[in-house]
Amino acid sequence: MIQPNQIETWNKQLHGKPPGEVISFFLNFFKEKIALSTSLGIEDQVLTHIISELNKNVKIFTLDTGRLFPETYDLIDRTVRKYKISIDVFFPEASDVEKMVAEKGINLFYDSIENRKLCCHLRKIKPLMRATKDMDAWITGLRREQAVTRKDMKIAEWDEVNGMVKINPLIDWSEQQVWDYVDQHNVPVNPLHKKGFASIGCQPCTRAIEPGEDVRAGRWWWENPETKECGLHKR
Ligand code: ADX
Ligand code: SF4
Repeated sequence: MIQPNQIETWNKQLHGKPPGEVISFFLNFFKEKIALSTSLGIEDQVLTHIISELNKNVKIFTLDTGRLFPETYDLIDRTVRKYKISIDVFFPEASDVEKMVAEKGINLFYDSIENRKLCCHLRKIKPLMRATKDMDAWITGLRREQAVTRKDMKIAEWDEVNGMVKINPLIDWSEQQVWDYVDQHNVPVNPLHKKGFASIGCQPCTRAIEPGEDVRAGRWWWENPETKECGLHKR
């Protein structure tokens, strides 16, 4: 069990270090008990690029909610082929989704925040628990400037909800730094980004944003910014 002072020490020691160094440090520490959780977003593509250069056997997984954009499925395929890696795909339990849809409708998420959270719970959170059941740590592409709900996040955190360490190697990066990395290293990205989709999740819950809008303004755009977490990153 990792102690809080251990996490604090890591954060001091790794503050300002490049993501590759942060990732190497934790791959070394957690060995086969650490995995990258990728949504195939730009940040996660940067992390996949870095990890595949360090060690192609690191576990990488994605949560396929069943409501993703076709472009996201194409990107899974392109990424696996380019880097010669595997991405494990975790699906929700069929019976959970069938019951939810029968009781509340196929597009229940637009009806209430409660329904939206239920859908995210069954389609993302429960599969995340399965994906990480043997893990001591998970790596994410969170950045502090993405949202008000993320402004206090650190490189390493104790993830109380999932009972493991969460590593956020890009936490201090700006959107521009991510794009510069993508351009310099020819990282494959979702073509929807160029069509105004800054942050990409499920198709019915993601829209393009206007210039000047907040990067996550297109996610669950009908909700208030303080409630806009699907539960993967509840603190
Ligand atoms: S979300 O909670 O609003 O959906 P966001 O899209 O910003 O999260 O992604 C933040 C991080 O959560 C990603 O960098 C990734 O590590 C993880 N994540 C989000 N969605 C998925 C997914 N479908 N599969 C795996 N990881 C995901
Ligand atoms: Fe369901 Fe929307 Fe959450 Fe996807 S983002 S799991 S479609 S509520």
